[in-house]
Amino acid sequence: MSKDTTASVSELITIAARAKEKSEAKFSHFRVGAAIEAGSGKIYSAFNVESSSYGLSMCAERIALWSAVNAGESKFTRIAIVSDSRDFCTPCGACRQVMYELAGDIEVYLTNRKGDVRNYRLSSLLPEAFTSKTLLDGRD
Ligand code: THU
Repeated sequence: MSKDTTASVSELITIAARAKEKSEAKFSHFRVGAAIEAGSGKIYSAFNVESSSYGLSMCAERIALWSAVNAGESKFTRIAIVSDSRDFCTPCGACRQVMYELAGDIEVYLTNRKGDVRNYRLSSLLPEAFTSKTLLDGRD
């Protein structure tokens, strides 16, 4: 799903929450929705999708980001992540790495079941990230 205008943080969270309602989490029953805003102003949202071969399941954040990249986006500003949990649903390590590499040091907004909002820079959730810069530095 994509939307074309610049959204407020609460709109971004609402879009993530709507995506969560469609979550395909029939094994964990842990529903997650994510909405990422691209530099173009478009918002791409997704929910987690699980497999009976559990390890093949995929997080909402990566599906949202990869959808945006597939649509030609390369710059990003912020992402909202929503679950039904009492606690905030912080992104898993794999999502942090993929987001940092593809989206850079974006703002991350988390909400809990009560609707409280917490805000982080991605670099604070993934300090000293490994990136292609380090990879390419090793080539000479
Ligand atoms: N999950 C996400 O979609 N995002 C997160 O940030 C954490 C975990 C999903 C993966 C799996 O479908 C379920 O939540 C339980 O781990």
